[in-house]
Amino acid sequence: RNHAESAHVRHFLRDDDLSPAEQAQVLDLADAIKKDRYGYRPFEGPQTVAVLFDKPSTRTRVSFATGIGELGGLPLIIDAGTSQMGRGESIEDTARFLGRQVGAIVWRTAGQERIEAMASASSVPVVNALTDEFHPCQILADLQTIRERFGRVDGLTLAYFGDGANNMAHSYLLGGAVAGMHVRIAAPAGYLPDSEILRRAGEIAVRTGGSVAVLSDAGEAAAGADVIATDTWVSMGQDGKEQRIADLMPFQVNAELMGRAAPGAILLHCLPAYRELEVTADVLDGPQSVVWDQAENRLHAQKALLSWLVSATAPASAIDLL
Ligand code: CP
Ligand code: NVA
Repeated sequence: RNHAESAHVRHFLRDDDLSPAEQAQVLDLADAIKKDRYGYRPFEGPQTVAVLFDKPSTRTRVSFATGIGELGGLPLIIDAGTSQMGRGESIEDTARFLGRQVGAIVWRTAGQERIEAMASASSVPVVNALTDEFHPCQILADLQTIRERFGRVDGLTLAYFGDGANNMAHSYLLGGAVAGMHVRIAAPAGYLPDSEILRRAGEIAVRTGGSVAVLSDAGEAAAGADVIATDTWVSMGQDGKEQRIADLMPFQVNAELMGRAAPGAILLHCLPAYRELEVTADVLDGPQSVVWDQAENRLHAQKALLSWLVSATAPASAIDLL
């Protein structure tokens, strides 16, 4: 792509980088790909996709590598610490070089400003594979899983319990609002969502028919919910484990909490799970848990996202993106 074209390159750095219509398109494509897993090969050539990690990963690493291969492409998995970035080459210079080689860049890193810097210098799409602030690829898989169970996402209530300030909570707020869901975050003081992200999610929800709420009472948050979600209480890079466990224990997802949800409610957890901390084993391994479908759907959702992004030529429309 030349410079003029790169101004229109679409990135997926946070959940609201896709409009409601675009998010639905990607989810529709993910469903179609899931039904014909080996029959869709737009990256045949093969097109290379660089997948960089500054943090550990099992699911994200495997699902991107598998998915890029199934699209007919060549996955290049790089532990960023072993690249020249680990010796201080700038993010922008790395992006300039990668753009001359690969069709897309996927990166798991710490600060959101790092992936924004990558995107700003990249002539190819950049995908957020988790930052401290967001985990948008995970939410696409979660939405695909919810649609499989309920036939829709809009109008459903998703209640998330635990660390309301982490990447999953923020992505449920933004991605759920884009999807027209009612998103409840149940968390104690000191673990509340970023106020700017909460404000943005509320603004989007007004336009999509969804809503966002932050609650300090776990039972109230669970009442009548269609989807119960949680995540580790100690995210990668965080310390103070004992204090965090003590603070978050009232927000544990257990049988009593599940009993307050709607009949037919499902449990989501992005994994890895820590049984008897954020979720009890009976619930995680019980009949309402769909966590293995959810983990499988990382593959289908990311194949859809990557192929959608590399073929998207239209600039993001201000109206369409809300
Ligand atoms: N859910 C998720 O992103 O898992 P990994 O950290 O194993 O990639
Ligand atoms: N919140 C977790 C998600 C892991 C997939 C973390 O950032 O470690």
